[in-house]
Amino acid sequence: MTGPMINTSERFPMLSTPLPGPNARRILALDEQYVSPSYTRAYPLVVKRGQGAIVEDVDGNRFLDCSAGIAVVATGHCHPRVVEAIQKQAAELIHMSGTDFYYEGMARLARKLAEIAPGDAPKKVYFGNSGTEAVEAAMKLARYHTGRDKFIAFLGAFHGRTMGALSLTASKPVQRHKFGPLVPGVYHVPYAYCYRCPYGLTPDACAVECATVIERDLFRTILPSKEVAAIVVEPIQGEGGYIVPPPKFLEELRRIADRHGIALVFDEVQCGVGRTGKMWACQHAGVAPDILVTAKGIASGMPLGVTIASADFMSWGPGSHASTFGGNPVSIAAALATIELLEEGLVENAARIGRRMLDRLAEWPRRFPVVGDVRGMGLMIGIEFVTDQQSKQQAPALRDRAVQGAFERGLLVLGCGENVLRLMPPLNLDADQADCALDILEGVIGGL
Ligand SMILES: Cc1ncc(COP(=O)(O)O)c(C=O)c1O
Repeated sequence: MTGPMINTSERFPMLSTPLPGPNARRILALDEQYVSPSYTRAYPLVVKRGQGAIVEDVDGNRFLDCSAGIAVVATGHCHPRVVEAIQKQAAELIHMSGTDFYYEGMARLARKLAEIAPGDAPKKVYFGNSGTEAVEAAMKLARYHTGRDKFIAFLGAFHGRTMGALSLTASKPVQRHKFGPLVPGVYHVPYAYCYRCPYGLTPDACAVECATVIERDLFRTILPSKEVAAIVVEPIQGEGGYIVPPPKFLEELRRIADRHGIALVFDEVQCGVGRTGKMWACQHAGVAPDILVTAKGIASGMPLGVTIASADFMSWGPGSHASTFGGNPVSIAAALATIELLEEGLVENAARIGRRMLDRLAEWPRRFPVVGDVRGMGLMIGIEFVTDQQSKQQAPALRDRAVQGAFERGLLVLGCGENVLRLMPPLNLDADQADCALDILEGVIGGL
C-alpha cells in the first residue's frame, strides 16, 4: 500500500550516525536560540524528507514513522497524488479568500464531506485552518443555534489551545497554567476510561455512569440543562491516552443530548479521517453527532479544519463567522486527493493492519509486566505502562524510556496521557512495516 515512488529497500529504518547527528546538532542549536520554548519535543529528530511511512533526517538516517506528524499524514508522507494535487493547485491559484469570493474546490469538498459525514440529514461545512479553529467554530455555532451558553466536556479531553477550545481541554495543567480566565460555563465530567473506571466498576457491570452522571448529578445540582448548548466529546480520547470508550457511552450521550435539546459535538480531529478503520470513529458505535469537527489527517499535512453540521443547524448568517485563510485552495486540493485515496483503500488498510497489530499486542500484558493495557481501533493504538499490573500504578518514566529507546532504534512514536505510548502511523503502513515497528518495540520494552 505504500506509494509507488518508494524504493522497497527503503521501507525500513536505517541509522548511520549517532543521534542526533552533526547536521541535526547544528539545527538544534539554532532552534534553541530562536524558536518558542513552548513546544514539547520528546527527542531530537530534525526531519529532512518523508515518503510513505519513512522519514529521513538531515544526516541521512531513516526512521519508520508511527507518529505520522501527530496523526496528520493519513496518506503517508508526500503521497505522489497529494503532491501532484498541491503542485497543480499552487501553480494555478494559492489564495483569494473563500470568505469573500467563491472557489469551485471549496464547494466540491463541502459536498464530499457532507456526503461522507455520519447522519442522514443534509449537511453544510465551515472551513478553518486547524483543529482548534474547527472546535471554536463548533462552540460558536452551538451557542448561536441553541441560544444557550454552557458546555459539557470530559476530563482528559484535548480540544485545542485557543481560548474557547482550551476551556474544553482538560488534559494537562501546563496547558492552562497562567492562561485564565478561560471561557466561563464549561463543566467537566470523567471520561469512559474503563481500564481505570472513575466509578470503580467493570465494563460488564456498568450502566454508563460516565454519561448518566450528567443527568443524575450535574443537571440536578449546579447546571440547568436548558442552559447547555453542547456536549463536546472525542469518540476516542486522543491526547488523554488513546482511550476507547464502550459504544454505549456515545449512545447514552446521544440520548441525553436529544432529551434536553443539547447539541452533541464529536471532536474527530485525531480519531477521524479513516484512522480507526472506518471513515469516522463514531461509526463504530453507530452514533451520529449534531456537529462533527475534524482536521489533522483530512488534508495529509496541509492546514485545514472542518466543522460539519446539518444544514438546519448551520443557521448563522453572513458575517457571523469566517476566516481569511480557512479552506484555502491548496489545502482543499490536498483534502480532495486525500479523501479519494482513503476511499480507494487506505481506510480498509487501516482496519486490516490495525487488526494485525492489535492481535499481536494483545499478548503483551502477559509477556511484559510493565504493560498494563493495550487498546485501540485501526491504526490508533495505545500501550499503557504501569509499575505493576496489580496496582496499575502509572509509569510515565518507563513510557518515556520506551519512546526514547524506539527513537534510538529508528522508530518514531510519541506518548499521550500520563503513561501511554501511542502508535498512529500513516494509514498506508504495510504489514512488513507494522511487524518491524512491533519487533523494535518488543526489543525496547523487553529491555526496560
Ligand atoms: C481531538 C483533538 N482536538 C483538537 C485538537 C487541536 O488541533 P490543532 O493542534 O490542529 O489545533 C487536537 C490536537 O491534537 C486533538 O487531538
